[in-house]
Amino acid sequence: MQTFFMRRAIELAGKGRYKTAPNPCVGAVLVHKDTIIAEGYHMEYGKAHAEVECLANAVKKGIFFQKIKNRSLSFSNPYLQEQVLQFQHIEYEKEINMEECSLYVTLEPCNHFGKTPPCSQAIFEAGIKTVYVGCSDLNANASGGADFLRSKGVNVVTGVCHDECLELIEDFIVWQKEKRSFCILKMACTLDGKIGPATGHSHSVSGSESKKVTMKMRKNMALSHSAVMVGGNTFFEDNPKLTVRDMQTESQPRAFIVSKRLPPLSGGKTGYFCLDQKKDTVFFTDMKNPELVKQYAEHGILLECIETSENKSLNLKKIFELAYQKYYSPYVFSEGGAKLAQSLLKEGLVDILIVYIAPYVLGDDTAKNVFSGNFVQTMQEAYKFKIFKTERIGSDLHVYLKMEKTCSQG
Ligand SMILES: NC(=O)c1ccc[n+]([C@@H]2O[C@H](COP(=O)([O-])OP(=O)(O)OC[C@H]3O[C@@H](n4cnc5c(N)ncnc54)[C@H](OP(=O)(O)O)[C@@H]3O)[C@@H](O)[C@H]2O)c1
Repeated sequence: MQTFFMRRAIELAGKGRYKTAPNPCVGAVLVHKDTIIAEGYHMEYGKAHAEVECLANAVKKGIFFQKIKNRSLSFSNPYLQEQVLQFQHIEYEKEINMEECSLYVTLEPCNHFGKTPPCSQAIFEAGIKTVYVGCSDLNANASGGADFLRSKGVNVVTGVCHDECLELIEDFIVWQKEKRSFCILKMACTLDGKIGPATGHSHSVSGSESKKVTMKMRKNMALSHSAVMVGGNTFFEDNPKLTVRDMQTESQPRAFIVSKRLPPLSGGKTGYFCLDQKKDTVFFTDMKNPELVKQYAEHGILLECIETSENKSLNLKKIFELAYQKYYSPYVFSEGGAKLAQSLLKEGLVDILIVYIAPYVLGDDTAKNVFSGNFVQTMQEAYKFKIFKTERIGSDLHVYLKMEKTCSQG
């Protein structure tokens, strides 16, 4: 039963993905005698945490009616106390003894005053006597919730669905441990792994339904104040817009271009769609010239000077650190092309790889491969992935992968 309730909490947590960044996704369920009586999840950065949202929903349903009636309940969390005052007359269908309730939460309850007061305190004040935790909090400032609750006599069981709960917050782990943006790389190719004809004839490989998925992902980037990234050749050859289109959105994602080349500035417009739109665009380049930086800034284009690696290409690790630490971009959604994709693999920066496979065969050796720039002699040198999801979208197959941790390269 513990696994069942924690999996529901995991499911709820996923609803907050992208909106909670740079906070982790967290879900919680309140269980009484093997029945879920209230649920909650962290919905948005700065808003109530999952445990507090779950308790607030319990208050709204009248689950605390008896405690409120005999004045044994008050919360130091202002949001929860507000719910108590607002919903104090609501009575639950049956009497609930809080001591018989268990709270399931995917991540250890926080124990500090951040944007919200500590969740550990709210759980204690609610009178819950058993808490099941998925995984511990890695953030040193926020951790300690389990110890606090134990010191108050609450029975805390940790490690329920531990690996699934860790996987749920893999983005948060990258932010906390590596202090860089979490990279989602998406590439589209034919059945023979080509991204288009050698002539450079520009026609999308994937179908219209796949494009909708891409737009949704760009919208997620906008929601989390994150960016869409492309390599220099894709930028100059395709002139992509990199915007959310054909769906409602309140904002646009940022655009990150990785290239030593810069587009010419003449007149008011550059001729490049992505630069002539009102959104943040950053060129990660090797130009150091302050005058140039000023000129481009006047056109709303930021230039970020990046050191080059031994092979003279721009240091992608540095770019992903700057993207997170300076541009506060929790995610980077990289849309290619093949050379950038290969370099991201080499640097071990691909956290999630999504490949759209379109049902075409080009059969042309000279056509560009979906990854390009590597030279290998044995299969042992291959980058290894595991598939964690596949989806048939319109005419295409979408494959979601993660890199095997024991990879021999990068
Ligand atoms: N099917 C798909 O999913 C898909 C997606 C995107 C693009 N495409 C196609 O792919 C083609 C372009 O792909 P591509 O492989 O030629 O080029 P690309 O990956 O778009 O860009 C590569 C260029 O980016 C710059 N760069 C700077 N630092 C780099 C680094 N560390 N690693 C890699 N690149 C770095 C370099 O140009 P500088 O000299 O400017 O520094 C490099 O030549 C286009 O024809 C486009 O239509 C297909």
